[in-house]
Amino acid sequence: MKLGFLLSLSLSASMFAAEPLVENFIKHGKANSAGTVAYSYDASVYSPDADLKDLPIGVFDSGIGGLTVLEAILTLDAYHNDTLNPGADGRPDFENERFIYFGDQANMPYGNYSSAGKTDYLRELILKDATFLLGRRWFDPKSQTFRQDKPPVKAVVIACNTATAYGIEDIRAIFQAWKVPVKVVGVVEAGARGVQESRPAASGSIGVLATVGTCASGAYPRVIGQTLGLAGRPVPSITQQGSIALAGVIEGDPVFTQSVGDCAYDDIRALLEAHRKTANPLPLSTLVLGCTHFPLAKAELTAALTAHRMDPAFSSLIAPEVTFVDPAEWTARELFRTLASARLRRRPPPTEPDLFYLSFPNPLRKNLPLTPEGGLEKDFKYGRETGALDREDTVNAPLRRDDLPAVGRKLVEGRLPAVWKSMGSR
Ligand code: DGL
Repeated sequence: MKLGFLLSLSLSASMFAAEPLVENFIKHGKANSAGTVAYSYDASVYSPDADLKDLPIGVFDSGIGGLTVLEAILTLDAYHNDTLNPGADGRPDFENERFIYFGDQANMPYGNYSSAGKTDYLRELILKDATFLLGRRWFDPKSQTFRQDKPPVKAVVIACNTATAYGIEDIRAIFQAWKVPVKVVGVVEAGARGVQESRPAASGSIGVLATVGTCASGAYPRVIGQTLGLAGRPVPSITQQGSIALAGVIEGDPVFTQSVGDCAYDDIRALLEAHRKTANPLPLSTLVLGCTHFPLAKAELTAALTAHRMDPAFSSLIAPEVTFVDPAEWTARELFRTLASARLRRRPPPTEPDLFYLSFPNPLRKNLPLTPEGGLEKDFKYGRETGALDREDTVNAPLRRDDLPAVGRKLVEGRLPAVWKSMGSR
């Protein structure tokens, strides 16, 4: 176990050694320190003596799924706001904070870049997302021009599991190279902490349900192993299952015809089949919902586990009780602790509303290959190469309630009330 743990630590360190794509991005940021061009930020905001406390917190995802993480942040009440002691005090923990949300909808799904052999391009997209949050530049569809008055941020929350798996080390590397003291919190590390804190000392195996890309990265088993290992806890067998459809089905993507219940059933079955193939499988007792959308299907996943528990072919593979770990909730806690220990919590409540942005194909680029619905054409999307930082295929524009596509609107309005309220406050 020890050897495996050391191996995974060294793998994670060497996997993300400064590479041309990261070096190139760092160089681009340094060469454009006024932040007026794409993928750059205003470096003067982050001067060594700057007080960042009153800046908003940035949250990004590949699309609108990360709004589930923002909902968890907005509704968290796990600490006493005045004393910082653990426990609810009836006041939301982030009551004085302001948020900037960004969803890279035009370039999603992120979970498919690995199957297309394009993880490097995905990593560059993730760096662009984080830099957008640092910067002031955004696209105004009304005037069809770029404007420079988006507030910069004091922390970046990577709400996307796939983006955390492939990009958190790169983001930390560019921030370090740019001397930007912005805190970075990702759902995978927080989720692993959630596994550690919600599991009894000795119990069964762990299952991870995530996108195909997140599973291909191996991030969850690696980080869960590190987290349990560092806490001196045994690392049980961890089985992953990459779901191709569940996120899309939950979002109501018309490409998928299955119901959420049927899809959850198929994914649980596939997870159990994979789990069966591990050596001496202990019953599954923890299930990590390693994709932004999956907590919205908790009821269907519970029903799928119950159905399989009653099937003699699977019953020995599932513990009588399975604990769900929702990384969103643990991310919110991690964010609170991070801001508190860095003395970055804001005191006076914000007077300005939260802001939301979504990416769209760049309307100033007339030759972009687009689908009939106006999205980036699939071969183009997954065929791009890294390094073209002077080319903007997509632009980031404000997202208001009325801009949400019908299915997205239903999801936010019906299931994410705090986000819905915050989105309506401008
Ligand atoms: N937000 C992604 C995640 O949590 C799911 C959607 C996608 O593949 O882009 O992994």
